[in-house]
Amino acid sequence: MEFWAMVAHESDSGIVLTRQQVDEGFLGQGTVTIKVHYSSANFKDGLAITPGGGVVRNYPIVPGIDITGEVVSSESDDFAPGDLVVAHGYEIGVSRNGGFAEYARVPDEWVVKLDGLSTRDAAALGTAGFTAAMSVQALLDRGLTPDDGAILVTGATGGVGSVAVDILSGLGFEVIASTGKKDAGDLLSELGANEVIGRLPEDPEAKLRPLAKAQWAGAVDSVGGKSLAYVLSCIGYGGAVAASGLTGGHDLPATVMPFILRGVALLGIDSVNLPIEKRRELWSRLGKDLRPHHLSTLENYAPITEVESVLRDIKSGNHTGRTVLGVAGEF
Ligand SMILES: NC(=O)c1ccc[n+]([C@@H]2O[C@H](COP(=O)([O-])OP(=O)(O)OC[C@H]3O[C@@H](n4cnc5c(N)ncnc54)[C@H](OP(=O)(O)O)[C@@H]3O)[C@@H](O)[C@H]2O)c1
Repeated sequence: MEFWAMVAHESDSGIVLTRQQVDEGFLGQGTVTIKVHYSSANFKDGLAITPGGGVVRNYPIVPGIDITGEVVSSESDDFAPGDLVVAHGYEIGVSRNGGFAEYARVPDEWVVKLDGLSTRDAAALGTAGFTAAMSVQALLDRGLTPDDGAILVTGATGGVGSVAVDILSGLGFEVIASTGKKDAGDLLSELGANEVIGRLPEDPEAKLRPLAKAQWAGAVDSVGGKSLAYVLSCIGYGGAVAASGLTGGHDLPATVMPFILRGVALLGIDSVNLPIEKRRELWSRLGKDLRPHHLSTLENYAPITEVESVLRDIKSGNHTGRTVLGVAGEF
């Protein structure tokens, strides 16, 4: 069996992504073989083709942390040929071959059967959208309701951010979208943002105060760094911030004041190693009560052969929304 893949190779000039035919050996170990319909472009995929990106240890590798498609063979009783599935997280696209290829093979305990979502919808959501759903669920589990006040979303035009805006507005929350993109107001309003503001803090050079005026009941943050520290200082009594990312930095120059004087909670979000039962449950809810209502608005499309330019945009911070990468029939 031979099939097409985009393979990342390490070379003296950096990491090069080449379109090439590979054989079945590339599929590696696993119990479920998937004909890939779509993958998607995530921040982490950008890191996978960046020298020193810190997510891939050994090249060559087929990147692509998201796989959606159709089961073509299965050694597991839980899956049968024809099942439409999504698989992401664990080692996919970072330490074993991922979704930028016509076929992928993974252990059955990493696979989620789609329920109420097409393979295209699932790719439009992908890891970033799933992380947004985990973040929203963390705020709901904390007990936040629309009556508690507005929820801030940082990096609002990004993958995690845009899906979070969409899900939160669908649940009836007032949503404040923070973005660095001057022309993103219309898009974010269409996704359901009630107000669009710039990146935070407004003055990036200003010294942060341990506590600032309480402005939001909660936040979905994928930016990290000084922005997250500032956001924590502005959360109201008993509120919470679901933190998943580091596009603005991995440091956290905060004080304990929001925790000990306002009872604010910092909720860590990790989509990679979330146990499969919880992963399957949340994907099912993404087809139901957590379903974003504006996926077609936030979704872009590119054939897999154009993945490099999409990932360049992501790395430069110019990307907006989610880009589905068409794999089947696009090599
Ligand atoms: N914990 C997990 O399981 C998990 C899962 C998925 C993603 N993540 C992480 O979450 C983050 C976002 O991922 P993504 O896929 O949504 O990426 P993305 O689509 O590239 O979005 C990132 C957004 O962050 C904002 N941004 C970029 N550079 C920034 C800077 N220097 N300062 C402040 N904001 C900046 C931009 O939004 P605006 O222009 O609108 O401000 C950008 O669109 C990444 O760090 C990723 O690694 C973590």
